[in-house]
Amino acid sequence: MSELFSLAGKTALVTGGTSGIGRRQALALAQAGASVVLVGRREAQLHQTIADIEALNGSAAALPADLADRGCLPETAARAAIPFGPIDILINAAGVNLRQPPEAITLESWDSTLNLNLATPFFLARELVPGMRKRNWGRIINIASLQSRRAFSNSIPYGASKGGVSQLTRAMAEAWSRYGITCNAIAPGFFPTELTAPVYENGELLNKLASQTAIGRNGELSDLDGLTQFLASPASAYITGQVIYLDGGFTAK
Ligand SMILES: NC(=O)c1ccc[n+]([C@@H]2O[C@H](COP(=O)([O-])OP(=O)(O)OC[C@H]3O[C@@H](n4cnc5c(N)ncnc54)[C@H](OP(=O)(O)O)[C@@H]3O)[C@@H](O)[C@H]2O)c1
Repeated sequence: MSELFSLAGKTALVTGGTSGIGRRQALALAQAGASVVLVGRREAQLHQTIADIEALNGSAAALPADLADRGCLPETAARAAIPFGPIDILINAAGVNLRQPPEAITLESWDSTLNLNLATPFFLARELVPGMRKRNWGRIINIASLQSRRAFSNSIPYGASKGGVSQLTRAMAEAWSRYGITCNAIAPGFFPTELTAPVYENGELLNKLASQTAIGRNGELSDLDGLTQFLASPASAYITGQVIYLDGGFTAK
């Protein structure tokens, strides 16, 4: 692999590493040579992802944590450096969509969504930035959404959080890029994960969503690999503050 795209010798912290998009991104980083620390609440799934990375001759470690607990973020960031050394790459993939109709949203459900989807990516990143600054190198990748710019039903807090993630990405890039730390977001279209299970159970809706893309199909998890590796690598050094829609052209139409 060209050195431009190699992650050999780099360490990554991936939230949401127990399933779906985060898990796939962890595998992609490991395949490009990074050692990966995985965060999530479900220990069995953490260990499954580790086993899958090790089967690819990669290195991974588990860091069980509930990222909705803001108090745990400094300790989570500190513990992340224990297995493989200081963290170079952060992927903020943990997220939730409670899919409540407007009248069912409570202050608690609003807060829990905004907290995990929007506050945690910032506060976790801020813990890791001093170490990245020392090495004058860092990559932060947030996960935005079609709902960063489009509205879907029963998703008001989720849409607000993902709209926020777009602007958070630009603001983090403004703050930290001068120290060699880029911050970008991937905005996926529809990908088959636990979070989108209600969509994938509805064949008619799924076909409609696929037909709204330019490519003519919904996402496959393997579609995440190239962009994830690129944004984490030296090759993307002059790209920062961008929200890249990985959506088969959904938002282009
Ligand atoms: N799938 C799509 O089509 C799609 C499209 C656009 C954006 N996204 C975004 O992609 C990201 C990943 O979602 P996904 O689709 O891969 O869904 P998923 O399979 O449900 O993954 C969600 C991840 O978040 C973690 N998580 C949730 N609450 C947590 C908490 N309190 N503490 C720590 N980790 C927590 C889960 O781990 P544990 O349960 O083990 O804690 C899990 O690994 C989300 O930000 C989502 O908004 C997904």
